[in-house]
Amino acid sequence: MALIDPHSYADSDQPRTRHLALDLVVDFTERQLIGEVTLHFAAPASGPLDLDSKGLKIRSVATPSGVCVPHTLGPADPILGERLRLELPAGISAVTIRYTTSPDATALQWLGPAQTAGRRHPFLFSQCQAIHARSMVPVQDTARLRVTYEAAVTLPDGLVAVMSAGPDGVRPGPRPGTTTFLFRMPQAIPTYLLALAAGHLEGRDLSPRSRVWAEPEVVEAAAWEFAGIEEMIVKAERLFGPYEWDRYDMLVLPPSFPYGGMENPRMTFLTPTLLAGDRSLVDVVAHELAHSWTGNLVTNATAEDFWLNEGFTVWAERRILEAVHGPEAAVLGWAIGQKALDESVARFGATSPLTRLKTQLSGVDPDEAFSSIPYEKGARLVALLERTAGREAFDRFLRSYMDMFRFTSISTEEFLAFLDEKLPGVSAAVGARRWFYEAGLPENAPVFRSAALEELTALAGGWTTGVRPTPEQMAGWTPPELLIYLQHLPRELDRESLDWLERSLNLTARGNYEILVEWLVIAGGSDYKPVFPRIREVLTRVGRMKYLRPLYAALGRHERTRALAVEIFAAASPTYHQLSARVVASVMGKYSSCPPGA
Ligand code: BES
Ligand code: ZN
Repeated sequence: MALIDPHSYADSDQPRTRHLALDLVVDFTERQLIGEVTLHFAAPASGPLDLDSKGLKIRSVATPSGVCVPHTLGPADPILGERLRLELPAGISAVTIRYTTSPDATALQWLGPAQTAGRRHPFLFSQCQAIHARSMVPVQDTARLRVTYEAAVTLPDGLVAVMSAGPDGVRPGPRPGTTTFLFRMPQAIPTYLLALAAGHLEGRDLSPRSRVWAEPEVVEAAAWEFAGIEEMIVKAERLFGPYEWDRYDMLVLPPSFPYGGMENPRMTFLTPTLLAGDRSLVDVVAHELAHSWTGNLVTNATAEDFWLNEGFTVWAERRILEAVHGPEAAVLGWAIGQKALDESVARFGATSPLTRLKTQLSGVDPDEAFSSIPYEKGARLVALLERTAGREAFDRFLRSYMDMFRFTSISTEEFLAFLDEKLPGVSAAVGARRWFYEAGLPENAPVFRSAALEELTALAGGWTTGVRPTPEQMAGWTPPELLIYLQHLPRELDRESLDWLERSLNLTARGNYEILVEWLVIAGGSDYKPVFPRIREVLTRVGRMKYLRPLYAALGRHERTRALAVEIFAAASPTYHQLSARVVASVMGKYSSCPPGA
């Protein structure tokens, strides 16, 4: 037996799945997928095959000729789910499993019409990273293995399905009143990139290879916000090589989507909180697009090497930002990232093993280990490698890295070996091993500075001594500049200060969620009653964990805002995504242990 991933029952001594053929009937009434999957093997297979599954009801397992395959479902592990062991007869090329998903499948969120923009149709979306694909389909659910796939998805008429795949036609469904959408994904992907969404969707073309999908009520706004996508793809191709996935489409989800974005290949999933109306939040799109190279082409071997996906992608996102908006804009991105990094290090503690880049996650839920550390510490290591090697040499290295490892998964150690081969001496010069295996942020971390950034932080830092920005200064700020100013203000302000900020900057009415939430964190954390209705509105509507976590945490500071948080959570949590509900519950769990105002 040779397990290859602490988060999977996949065994490298057993047959490998090479292709999946999926047939999914979306049952909105029972909130389940009625599924059938055929696993096609890389070579004639026999003997035991261990698959990952979570909450699935297995109805039958059979060979292509219809012979039943013995199987057993192991006990439920709270993190891994249940091992599904098949005993394959000798020499078969494929096996078909019929199953249904559980209504609380961790990969799936089922939305009632009230949770959509149109309020008339239900909605379903998946979020499989890191280890939730197994609650949607029984598979070898590890990033070390890759599959191509085809799928048939049946929905009630009037709804549309999209997947992380190319569309392959539409036909009448098996029952009256249903339609079947066909998909084909010819590029091999790790199973965490399986993705499905279904709802009342409409598309708008943005370029010959890019379209944005959303509910009709938001699709125009989405098309306007992301109109610059082709320029980003072109700039990214110049940096990282040809775009390998044919199309780059995007889906704007209902607001309960728990992330900012998810790099599902060919179909990035996005939160509608990016629709600021001024294109100021497209850095998230740059990030998901960059994953088309760093993450989807070259993939982390396991969640323990997650920084290879996210650190590289944050670095790549800022290179795209630099190419589109110039170096000053990139510096602001690095400064905003520094704040997130500091907060994550503070949350875990500077000596916590979770602040290493290479983590040890045996027995640990990847969702619990999630933080800004692999993102921002990882990106800083990549920037340091870039500075040390020189940009030109590093860009050449990056191209050879993509060429060497395209469509494969690698570990931190394999990355290090390749780095040492192609850029000898660089890893030693930066102390890469310390970055990987030791806690905290090494003191040789690159620092990003600009005159604009210094001015903003000095202005904010002077708040308590009476320093205030002039109306002209404030009028000249871009959204990221305003965000940085707010991020550097004291966390707790008196009523007069808050009145002044609101009067001068009109913050409560902002549509840019980065700015809005930063303001609500300060104002809510200061027990400032005028923002309570807006806080309620945001926490009731939006499920993005990046916003829920700090906002609920800030409300813990005062008795009155705690009560507000408890009341809002009680009313809103039934509509939260499971991941979001869990994060908020853990934040609120800390309310009782620290006294108000602490
Ligand atoms: N792949 C991540 C989202 C993710 C990570 C989902 C781990 C599940 C487990 C995605 O690319 C991401 O990083 N999104 C960020 C965007 C930001 C860094 C620009 C987010 O959602 O905020
Ligand atoms: Zn990412």
